[in-house]
Amino acid sequence: MHKVAIGVLGASGYAGRELCELVARHPRSRLAFATASDRQGARARFGGTEMAFVAVEDAPLSEAQLVFSALPHGASASWVRAAHEAGAKVVDLSADLRPGTGIEHRSGCVPYGLTELARATVREAEIVANPGCYPTVTLLALLPLLARGLVAPRATIVVNAASGVTGAGFTPKRELMFAEVADDFRPYAIGNEHRHLAEMRAVLASLGSDAELIFTPHLLPVSRGILATITVPLAEPMADVLEPWREHFANEPFIEVSAGVPALRDVVHRNVVRITATMVAGVRAPTVTIIAAIDNLVKGAAGQALQNANLLLGLEETMGLPG
Ligand SMILES: NC(=O)c1ccc[n+]([C@@H]2O[C@H](COP(=O)([O-])OP(=O)(O)OC[C@H]3O[C@@H](n4cnc5c(N)ncnc54)[C@H](OP(=O)(O)O)[C@@H]3O)[C@@H](O)[C@H]2O)c1
Repeated sequence: MHKVAIGVLGASGYAGRELCELVARHPRSRLAFATASDRQGARARFGGTEMAFVAVEDAPLSEAQLVFSALPHGASASWVRAAHEAGAKVVDLSADLRPGTGIEHRSGCVPYGLTELARATVREAEIVANPGCYPTVTLLALLPLLARGLVAPRATIVVNAASGVTGAGFTPKRELMFAEVADDFRPYAIGNEHRHLAEMRAVLASLGSDAELIFTPHLLPVSRGILATITVPLAEPMADVLEPWREHFANEPFIEVSAGVPALRDVVHRNVVRITATMVAGVRAPTVTIIAAIDNLVKGAAGQALQNANLLLGLEETMGLPG
């Protein structure tokens, strides 16, 4: 059977390694090349195939039908362009082409690959901007309320989300050393300072929402996973609180609407979002709390990127993905 040649830029990083594993195990793709920067020349094994990382400058871009870029922000856009000019379709995992933060999104031809929102445009695209991990969990959790106009006018939506340490990437940092992270739990970027806010605001605006966000990320001493607690003022009370999610996501293979409270162990190593919601008792205005969980490296990065790649390649959307 013909296998699609796929290249991974930034393959030695956390998201890149996850991509290489998924590509190597995918029934219709093979890993054509894998790049690194400091670790070029190092060897790694993905799904039984051993490869040496090459410098991005030495990547044989024209040999790939599809390229994933898991390069850092700022370093990615020019390589996305180069891979596309060499003839590949491209999924960019960095923020470079995303709405709000993107440096090239204004051209309007790069869809934002929140797959459950944009699969029709992704299918027709050449390049896709893969969403950030926090935006993926937050926006998917909010979509059913936004689609039905259930969010109160001029609402302030409060998002508290905790991420495992791989969310910060592989580059060593003092504050991410084991003894600094273990047995602790702390917020960061408090006061609406996180760079993902611009992306989430831009998508909310594109959906016609006038809601504001207060977003507080936290560092959780686990390797992977994000759990988000999202509080939303409603336009009116809801009798059957889970119904908007059940109906909106009825045919979605990677969204699990649950009566029970999601936990990280329900979602790690899987390309899923698990969501529950409950009305908040003892407050004046109708308010819902949504809890949503993902694996930041799978649905929040490499898994969603492969979901988009399957669409770009005309393959089954779920192919090769851990559901
Ligand atoms: N981690 C997550 O949970 C997550 C989630 C969603 C999106 N993303 C996005 O995915 C991308 C990768 O994130 P990550 O966490 O995997 O980062 P990472 O672990 O730091 O990996 C970065 C990769 O890029 C290479 N690299 C670094 N600087 C480079 C340069 N100037 N030129 C060429 N290659 C360079 C690194 O090679 P060496 O290792 O050899 O230096 C490594 O392969 C980022 O844009 C990030 O925002 C990450």
